Amino acid sequence: MQSELDTMESAALAEIAASADLRELDTLRVTLLGKAGTVTVALKSLGTLKPEVRRERGAAINALRDRLTLAIAARRNALETDILKARLAAERIDVSLPARPAPQGSIHPISRTLEELTALFGAMGFVVHDGPDIENDWYNFGALNIPAHHPARAMMDTFYLKSSGHARPMVLRTHTSPLQIRTMLEETPPIRIIVPGRTYRSDHDATHSPMFHQCEGLVIDRAITLGHLKGCLMDFLRAYFERPNLRARFRASYFPFTEPSIEIDIAWNRRTGEIGEGSDWLEILGAGMVHPNVLANCGIDAREFQGFAFGMGVERITMLKHGIPDLRAFYEGDIRWLTHYGSSALTPVALHEGSPR
Ligand code: PHE
Repeated sequence: MQSELDTMESAALAEIAASADLRELDTLRVTLLGKAGTVTVALKSLGTLKPEVRRERGAAINALRDRLTLAIAARRNALETDILKARLAAERIDVSLPARPAPQGSIHPISRTLEELTALFGAMGFVVHDGPDIENDWYNFGALNIPAHHPARAMMDTFYLKSSGHARPMVLRTHTSPLQIRTMLEETPPIRIIVPGRTYRSDHDATHSPMFHQCEGLVIDRAITLGHLKGCLMDFLRAYFERPNLRARFRASYFPFTEPSIEIDIAWNRRTGEIGEGSDWLEILGAGMVHPNVLANCGIDAREFQGFAFGMGVERITMLKHGIPDLRAFYEGDIRWLTHYGSSALTPVALHEGSPR
């Protein structure tokens, strides 16, 4: 008898172990332990036995049923774990970010400076204007209070274009100042603009290029004074060079289109190249109060509105900030130079948010 139960048990355990999925396992469970299952039937048959035999056999069958129940539960557990593992493998989601692409190219230092100028003056309420590189000589000179035979015209080695039926001689603009005129003719004050752009002079050496960049500034409003000019440009210089204590010198000068005219020098240490302190001076900006004749040429009443203007060389301030020795390298497109002095497109311009210290 006992061995008959043993045979049944080992056969059942083998089948349980071999069941390939939950459905098969459940069918097996019904076959063994269900109402009409083998074990259940064996238990029911106990009634026909003599009491002495019944007790012993009953205990044996109950124990068998418990072991099979446990074995089925363990197998179910294993099958469910397999199913879960398979699902996790199949539904795997890659939540990692791909690596950032290797940087390709860089922002040219001139472009970078133009972005910085826009950000810095933008934060002070200036808007960016632009205009044509080819100007007639009235915008470039005449309206700026530089008459035809004025020596100031000779100061700037001008590229004149061959006459092509224009009423006035055409030039490649020698400065961004024509945009003072264009803006004052088109807009009514208050005016607060900067004009970053290309300019041209017939000049070529380590510090001069026939094409270079300037940034003009113009503010026209009521009761604007030299004090506003000074505050605005000091704020700019300190933020741009990232030197909160930068010292500067405001020196009387001459431009036909400003009165008074000034030039601004920043302190500099000739030996170390350090900007902002030291006992040497570097000229960095031309500026002044807009000349009443210029206001009049633009139909602005000088008794009601005044203003200041300034102009700076973009290459020059870029060279000083980054210690770039030779102007010509800006336009040569040498990859090594661009890699060294260029900046990453992923680094935002944030000078106007205050220096990072
Ligand atoms: N346009 C002048 C130059 O090119 C600079 C300047 C601009 C000076 C505005 C005063 C005011 O040298």
